[in-house]
Amino acid sequence: MQLTHKQIGQFDQHGYLFFPSLFTHREVGVLNAELGRIFSSRRPENVREKRSGVVRTSFGVHMYNAAFARLARHPRMVEPVKEIFQEDVYMHQFKVNAKAAFDGEVWQWHQDFGTWHADDQMPEPRAMNVAIFLDEVNEFNGPLMFIPGSHEFGVIEAGHDTATTSYPLWTLDHDTVSRLVAKGGLVAPKGPAGSMILFHSCLVHASGSNLSPWHRRTVYLSLCAVSNHIRRFKRPGYIAQREFEPIQCLPDDCLLKDYPVSLPWKDGAPESVLQPQLAA
Ligand code: SIN
Ligand code: MN
Repeated sequence: MQLTHKQIGQFDQHGYLFFPSLFTHREVGVLNAELGRIFSSRRPENVREKRSGVVRTSFGVHMYNAAFARLARHPRMVEPVKEIFQEDVYMHQFKVNAKAAFDGEVWQWHQDFGTWHADDQMPEPRAMNVAIFLDEVNEFNGPLMFIPGSHEFGVIEAGHDTATTSYPLWTLDHDTVSRLVAKGGLVAPKGPAGSMILFHSCLVHASGSNLSPWHRRTVYLSLCAVSNHIRRFKRPGYIAQREFEPIQCLPDDCLLKDYPVSLPWKDGAPESVLQPQLAA
């Protein structure tokens, strides 16, 4: 999939692009069929909600599940990112956020590159976030919110919030968010399962809790330009990947056919990936 000049201009201006129904219901069905087993497994890669204990985020699923490993190599997702960076990309982070019906908790206001820079020593914001909806996203189930144009400000000062949810995050204060919203407004792309968003790693974003009876399961993939790989391995390797091999795309029908993929964490992530390492 090639982006048009108009789309590249929109990305530069607003910091995101939205592709409703990019993947079919049949393709999404292949992924959703795996989720019960993934969320019910007791792996360290599964981070649970603070209050209910249901899965909040499943990291590194593409390293042990074949359907998600194929998604991680899907040309409809990878090619536009390579086009924007004009370089090969590797998978910096892969996660499925569950935002479960009734129990899915908030994601505070933040920029992803702030964390990648501070914790992982990623040099530049040359990494793209991709969100792929596994459920319909509507106004009730905790849609992801963006402040359009906020990527233009680069890395904004943030505080490390280790208390609000089960997942530590570098978050922006209320005054900063109010100032940015006064300038750029707010958007929350909504649409059917199979929709995709590309968003800049400095774009300020957040989501509210999910009080609705509908799950809002979303895959988030962070693709980094190979030359911009992280320099520090402070966080576990399932949160910040330590292999910088360029992604080799599979054919466009890869969610519907069993193309072979390597699954190195099939029997569990190795000890080295679970632990911090001092030297990258
Ligand atoms: C994220 O910012 O990493 C996740 C946000 C969400 O799932 O709503
Ligand atoms: Mn984020």
